[in-house]
Amino acid sequence: MKICSIVGARPQFIKLAPFSKEVRKFHQEIIIHTGQHYDAEMSDVFFEQLELPKPDYNLGIGNGTHAEQAGKMLIEIEKVLMIEKPDLVIVFGDTNSTLAGSLAAAKQNIKSVHIEAGLRSFNRTMPEEINRIVADSICDYLFTPTILAHCNLIDIKLNSYFTGDIMVDSLEMIKSKIRQDKNNYILLTLHRPYNVDDINTLSNIIAKLSMLNEMIIFPIHPRTKKMIENNNLVLPENIIPIKPQGYVECIELQYNAKKIITDSGGIQKEAYILGVPCITIRSETEWIETVELGWNMLANPNDKDFIKKIEQFNPTGEQKNIFGSNVAKKMVQLINNFENI
Ligand code: UD1
Repeated sequence: MKICSIVGARPQFIKLAPFSKEVRKFHQEIIIHTGQHYDAEMSDVFFEQLELPKPDYNLGIGNGTHAEQAGKMLIEIEKVLMIEKPDLVIVFGDTNSTLAGSLAAAKQNIKSVHIEAGLRSFNRTMPEEINRIVADSICDYLFTPTILAHCNLIDIKLNSYFTGDIMVDSLEMIKSKIRQDKNNYILLTLHRPYNVDDINTLSNIIAKLSMLNEMIIFPIHPRTKKMIENNNLVLPENIIPIKPQGYVECIELQYNAKKIITDSGGIQKEAYILGVPCITIRSETEWIETVELGWNMLANPNDKDFIKKIEQFNPTGEQKNIFGSNVAKKMVQLINNFENI
């Protein structure tokens, strides 16, 4: 088969790596990079570290409003699909690249797979939630990362397969490169629009975290950096800003951290797998199992006990395997057995 994988944003390069490696054993793969993330440190470094093949097409879409970004992607992806005529399109996760890729495939009657299907925050103000709902409704095959995600697809379960989470395989690919150097810091990442797009919300989070008597290492996402710079927000002394990190460095920073404070979906999972306590600055999460098993705690910076809760959070329970293993292999075996494509 000719398989077309569509990616565009940082977490998608990470998910693509193990899939691409496995799928190329059986099929021809072409990669479309929408260009949603374009900085070397948001894109190139992941292709290098995960030894990903160079994309066959880079659409160079860049930023814009949601409609502009997704609209331009839809137009350009359609052109490529018309030239390449793949048998199957693969989309990953919940970004605008996922939305545009799945829609472009559906409009051309090309069968498609959604990897990381079934996740729900049940919060429709999140752009990612809308992208997930659309991709899950129009993709032909849905590969789910957890049992709970699988259960969310109960109505369309004919086409859904519980495969486990592909990020387990991504982590496996670079595990041997991680240096163990347990250290006395907290790792912080923030990029969700509801935490960073309003300067009052962002400065409130930062002000609260300045009360933690801990060194906080803060790799800053471009979205967050823009807000900080445009508003001349001065970071307190205990928060040390660094540039966005490569995948190996990011896993290393997580592994060696005392605790992690984040609003990222991927990092909540990685923290769980690495056995590092995670505090999530959100009112809900798609990765409910990590909370139920005690390793992830949802926290609200406006809660009067916010700092105390972070200080006292000290999970000790077992980390059950909720994300599976050898996931890419399972996915490609399923694809090999798809009929009528
Ligand atoms: C996107 C995804 C989000 C994912 C996140 C991971 C959507 C709706 N959101 O959010 O689900 O968790 O990626 O990082 O698709 N920018 C740069 N350099 C880059 C990339 C972006 O400066 O290399 C700037 C853009 O110009 C834009 C801002 O960062 O102003 C945000 O980028 P955007 O692609 O809109 O979404 P993310 O916030 O990264």
